[in-house]
Amino acid sequence: EVTKEFIVGMPKAELHLHIEGTLEPELKLKLAQKNHVDIGQTTIEEVRASYQYDDLASFLAVYYPAMNVLQTEDDFYDLAMEYIHHAAENNVRHAEIFFDPQAHTSRGIAFETFINGLYRATVDARALNIDARLIMCFLRDMSRESARKTLEESLPYRDKFIGVGLDSDEHNNPPMKFFNQFTQAEQYGLHLTAHADIDQKGSIEHIRELLEVIGVERIDHGTNIVEDPDLVAYAANHHIGFTTCPLSNTFVRPEMKGPEVLELLDKGVKISAHSDDPAYFGGYISDNYYALADAFNLTKEQVVMLARNSFETSWISKEQKAIYI
Ligand code: ADE
Ligand code: ZN
Repeated sequence: EVTKEFIVGMPKAELHLHIEGTLEPELKLKLAQKNHVDIGQTTIEEVRASYQYDDLASFLAVYYPAMNVLQTEDDFYDLAMEYIHHAAENNVRHAEIFFDPQAHTSRGIAFETFINGLYRATVDARALNIDARLIMCFLRDMSRESARKTLEESLPYRDKFIGVGLDSDEHNNPPMKFFNQFTQAEQYGLHLTAHADIDQKGSIEHIRELLEVIGVERIDHGTNIVEDPDLVAYAANHHIGFTTCPLSNTFVRPEMKGPEVLELLDKGVKISAHSDDPAYFGGYISDNYYALADAFNLTKEQVVMLARNSFETSWISKEQKAIYI
């Protein structure tokens, strides 16, 4: 039996974590007060009671408006440092952290404000023995033109992030909509990942486009690749990383996807477990590992394999990887 203590103690890489999704009710209220932003709630209980969602769209409708409380560089720094402390408590040694520029520029926050605050936290993370990096995500329900402009705006800060991703509402927003941005980002030496598998009807096609046309290194979620055995074999052969998020799955997907995770592990696909939006889905990375291990009776070997996969599919150097694998 795999205990919580074992999972907490195991070194891990966190590869699927939205920094805006680490905004805990306490910090949300504190920043709302400081910045005079009316969020419609004044107590922790009211904030928690407002967390009602049962699919991605209803989650995003709660998630984005809350970001209004983030106004200054220090706000973003404090948000990220709070996560870094959670990561340290969970023995996360390496973190690749998503941020959503368009969720902030669209409400008048300058690119330099959030990138500098978030980046400063990644520098200070080193003192806690955490190697933290940033991944810039495009919001797929916004226009191509907005993504193009976002990539352009990010270039002065090119040395402050290591990759690009794709998140938000997948429905009717296929990865190919952003083919040009992915291609350009790759030319700038950025790593590529993208969310896929919420749109049950279209997502196997989305996964195919990501693997065969765009050429991403990882897919975030993506467990319904099991629908296509040829694609599963392709993913295994090409060491594509899959980042599953058990607790968020219980809210915005039909279920935790345990059988899919076990099948992919068994077929040699490099899948690992992560926390997505821990302040909204009830737990940080160890809670996610534990929920999955407990619900589907994972062995110690399977849990260790997930953690090993997280380092293998991370974007750290070969030398750094050798320490953990
Ligand atoms: N943004 C934050 N969390 C997300 C998720 N789970 N899926 C898509 N977009 C997101
Ligand atoms: Zn996510």
